[in-house]
Amino acid sequence: MGKLSASILAADFAELGSQIRAVEPFAEVFHIDVMDGHFVPPIALGTVIVESIRPVTERTLHGHLMVDAPESFFAELAEAGLNVVSFHMEAVGDPEPAIRKAREVGMGVGLTMNLETPVDAVFPFLDLVDDVMLMSIRPGWSGQELNTEVFPRLEAVRAEIDRRGAQVALEVDGGVKPVNAQRCVDAGATTLIAASAIFGAPDAAAAAQELAKIVEGA
Ligand code: DX5
Ligand code: ZN
Repeated sequence: MGKLSASILAADFAELGSQIRAVEPFAEVFHIDVMDGHFVPPIALGTVIVESIRPVTERTLHGHLMVDAPESFFAELAEAGLNVVSFHMEAVGDPEPAIRKAREVGMGVGLTMNLETPVDAVFPFLDLVDDVMLMSIRPGWSGQELNTEVFPRLEAVRAEIDRRGAQVALEVDGGVKPVNAQRCVDAGATTLIAASAIFGAPDAAAAAQELAKIVEGA
């Protein structure tokens, strides 16, 4: 069964609690984009947001760290109640020490890759992580269009996960909408991440329900 992950980046932060409650029946995960202004140009979100929403929902809180030296934030994010942390392969040399550190502080861990990074770079780590997240946009902003180059990339990672029999969720992040969600699932994604398609819709709950229905068949 696939999962919908609601990225709060496109939420109305003045109404964050009620927006989370509205989509919670359809989103098993809330995705929190952490940006440092170095790894990506914008700054966004962080530990205080995790602290604020932790009492609002029991759903999985998944941090997407678009930051340099991601491991330096793991302890405080875990303390704030983050369940799973993903960091970019482009932000570290060897991902293994950061993977170990995430486990040490009690979080699940995933690796994320930009479109330009050769997809097989993640293969050596598939037995060490809980999820792989493939970017389908340039990281940093909500509301961009999904780049279709992600489809063969999803297919390649899906094939390697299956070949190894690894227990790894495969996520796609950026520009996911009802119009391309089935294509993402067909390419092998088990988790769809969406921000503007949910929180930018006139009825966020209905939008989340529509996407959840598509990915639940995955
Ligand atoms: C962008 C973030 C995405 C973003 C997706 O850097 O990683 O998670 O919130 O936004 P949409 O779904 O609007 O493309
Ligand atoms: Zn993200």
